[in-house]
Amino acid sequence: MKLWGGRFTKEENQLVHNFNESLSFDQKFYHQDIQGSIAHVTMLAKQGIVSEEDRKAIIDGLNSILADIESGKLVFTKEHEDIHSFVEANLIERIGDAGKRLHTGRSRNDQVALDMKLYCRDEIDEIDVLVKNLLEELLKIMEENLDTYMPGFTHLQKAQPVTLAHHMGAYFEMFTRDRSRLHDIRKRMNYCPLGSGALAGTTYPLDRAYTAQLLGFDGPTLNSMDSVSDRDYVIELLSALSTIAMHLSRFSEEIIIWNSNEYRFVEIDDAYSTGSSIMPQKKNPDIAELVRGKTGRVYGALMSILTTMKGIPLAYDKDMQEDKELTFDAIDTVKGCLALFTGMISTMTFNKEVMEASAKNGFTNATDAADYLVNHGVPFRDAHGIVGQLVLFCIDKGIALDDMTLDEFKAISPVFEEDVYEAISMKTCVEKRTTIGAPGQEAMKKVIAIYKEQLEK
Ligand code: ARG
Repeated sequence: MKLWGGRFTKEENQLVHNFNESLSFDQKFYHQDIQGSIAHVTMLAKQGIVSEEDRKAIIDGLNSILADIESGKLVFTKEHEDIHSFVEANLIERIGDAGKRLHTGRSRNDQVALDMKLYCRDEIDEIDVLVKNLLEELLKIMEENLDTYMPGFTHLQKAQPVTLAHHMGAYFEMFTRDRSRLHDIRKRMNYCPLGSGALAGTTYPLDRAYTAQLLGFDGPTLNSMDSVSDRDYVIELLSALSTIAMHLSRFSEEIIIWNSNEYRFVEIDDAYSTGSSIMPQKKNPDIAELVRGKTGRVYGALMSILTTMKGIPLAYDKDMQEDKELTFDAIDTVKGCLALFTGMISTMTFNKEVMEASAKNGFTNATDAADYLVNHGVPFRDAHGIVGQLVLFCIDKGIALDDMTLDEFKAISPVFEEDVYEAISMKTCVEKRTTIGAPGQEAMKKVIAIYKEQLEK
């Protein structure tokens, strides 16, 4: 069964085999392994290193293995060390001697470097679609809520009024940067390591540019030692995934707060909530909590690979086999979180009246009341003090600024006139903020047009 039995006089100890094997997890990229082998043998034949006949037999054999794995006819059995050994042994079983020529001019070191890269590249493309779906959902909420007023917070204290569209826009920005990070990584990693051999290239006249082209890379890598031992792209990907997870976690935290009995800004759909086994009244935001909680394991994967890589001398060392399980887990975790989170927010309802009332009752228009005084000639520092007195008065009476009578306003400052109500309405507070990036409708509409264009690209 072993690819390397020739030099050995003893059977491998079972515990050693179990400790050393990676088939139990690297079977996840069987598809990429076969794809890489097909490209490799196509190049070998073009270069006259294997015959046309062998090329055909090998490709047919590989395709039949692929079909049998996919139909469940061929199962991964424990005696093989890794996916590379598994596929090669199966190929030889199926087509005989021709199968033994597949590994010409190749090492498992450049093979695994290729497989991992292909896998990560495919996953980047899938994650990109999931982030894009989330952005589209956010854009929909934004377009429907340009005049849904709500409090904007600092220190989780009500600060100034914004709109739901504007608040969602902040997340739109975050997830747009996440996509751009994924695109950057894809571009930087897109060079093919195959043909680097174990570490020092090979003596066969390989056409590495051709293999690279067959596999959709921008070209071959330029240093064989780096090629077999570079896992930077894994680290970059896990870093980007950690950032996505962090963004989803912040968003989840807000939704959990907004969904609480105290806030009631949103109602999470029944389909995305769960109940309590003892408290009949409960409807818990478990999905948002899980998305928040799963962030930890994604960060864990990043820390793990950074630590694994820090002490590895050039070139390939077996430590690098540790890049897989945590990376696979982080990818699957983030994909799951993105899909569930998007489903959750697309079915969630927003209690617009509650949001607007909350903005009003939290003195979020206090800055605008001060600005009103400034516009009537009062120095800002004095205006700040006067509005402070208004706020104290309102707290004492349990009312909002807008609920004060004009006489009450005038008792604190004679500068106030009837038009103060208009000046401190939620609508005015928001709509006067028209600089680009601000919540006013005029500014938001321009920004949404830019977002739409970005999504269509
Ligand atoms: N299973 C190994 C890995 O994941 C494949 C490469 C093994 N190469 C070697 N020379 N032992 O890294």
